[in-house]
Amino acid sequence: MIKNVTILGAGLMGSGLAQVFAKSEDIHVILLVRKMKEEPYAPIIKNLDLLIENGALSKAEKDGVLSRISFTDDMGAAAKDADFIVECVPEILETKQDVLRDLEPLCRPDAILATNTSVMSITEIAAKCKKKDRVVGTHFWNPPYLIPLVEVVKAEETSEAVMDASMELLRKVGKKPVRCQKDVPGFIANRLQHAIWREALSIVEKGIADAATVDEALRYGPGLRWPILGILENADMIGLDLSLNIQSYIVQYLEDSHEASKLLKSLVEKGDLGFKTGKGYQSWTPEQIEASNKRLREYLIRVTKDI
Ligand SMILES: NC(=O)c1ccc[n+]([C@@H]2O[C@H](COP(=O)([O-])OP(=O)(O)OC[C@H]3O[C@@H](n4cnc5c(N)ncnc54)[C@H](O)[C@@H]3O)[C@@H](O)[C@H]2O)c1
Repeated sequence: MIKNVTILGAGLMGSGLAQVFAKSEDIHVILLVRKMKEEPYAPIIKNLDLLIENGALSKAEKDGVLSRISFTDDMGAAAKDADFIVECVPEILETKQDVLRDLEPLCRPDAILATNTSVMSITEIAAKCKKKDRVVGTHFWNPPYLIPLVEVVKAEETSEAVMDASMELLRKVGKKPVRCQKDVPGFIANRLQHAIWREALSIVEKGIADAATVDEALRYGPGLRWPILGILENADMIGLDLSLNIQSYIVQYLEDSHEASKLLKSLVEKGDLGFKTGKGYQSWTPEQIEASNKRLREYLIRVTKDI
């Protein structure tokens, strides 16, 4: 049974993952920081307090989570007793490869080595490891303590035992892991998300609707179904004969560009980066930005309470 989880990199995702695993009373988490002066508890405490404010966590549970997280800047100490190690270092292929290569001689031969890469090939990340069958992708979504999905990605040499153990661990800490059986860019959920993004931008570029209208069409239409009715279950519900008729007609009109959107490129060139600059597809005041972030977190806390 997995009892010791080590997380490499105490940034946005690493500190969130520490919180996820430490929810379980029989898991101890070690967070590897680059320098001991880095303070990983602060963002975790902020997240836990938000859960308390929204009635999703008690003060005793918060103290329990914090008591099960420790941190070190010594990779040997972080690795030696770990059953499961997940790297959350920056999205640079060579950095990830080197971290796993350096880690291997320091950890137990049966330890699982997971990577939280957003898009990179797990097979390439494992390239400098000697024992590649224990390297697996575990793609968490931000904020990881609120989004249940984790994509568990099988690289060319990942063993079935490692896939199974990773799935079981993630279920145990309350996540909804899904198996991605092929190591492909975007795994499952980002491929879906980017297909929708491509079409959404194309609709704006062609003057069919503006950005706010595209978002409304999703939020008040199909987006309402998705939390309870997957898109393929929905097709089964309406009937595959109807589904085939509709798809045969519509597919020829959909965006199929293999380049990034011209609209997106031109906005970035102008320095319109979204919330970061107050203007993206739409204009945003500081109050609207604050409200949007708050609304998302409070909504996620509410809807994931009973998942
Ligand atoms: N931010 C997101 O929304 C998101 C979502 C899913 C996955 N991811 C992935 O998670 C990973 C981490 O992203 P993040 O947003 O937490 O980045 P981040 O920059 O917030 O954190 C990275 C951390 O790694 C540390 N670090 C750098 N080199 C290190 C090393 N050699 N050993 C130990 N620690 C080291 C840094 O000091 C920093 O604390 C990336 O692969 C990213 O693509 C990010």
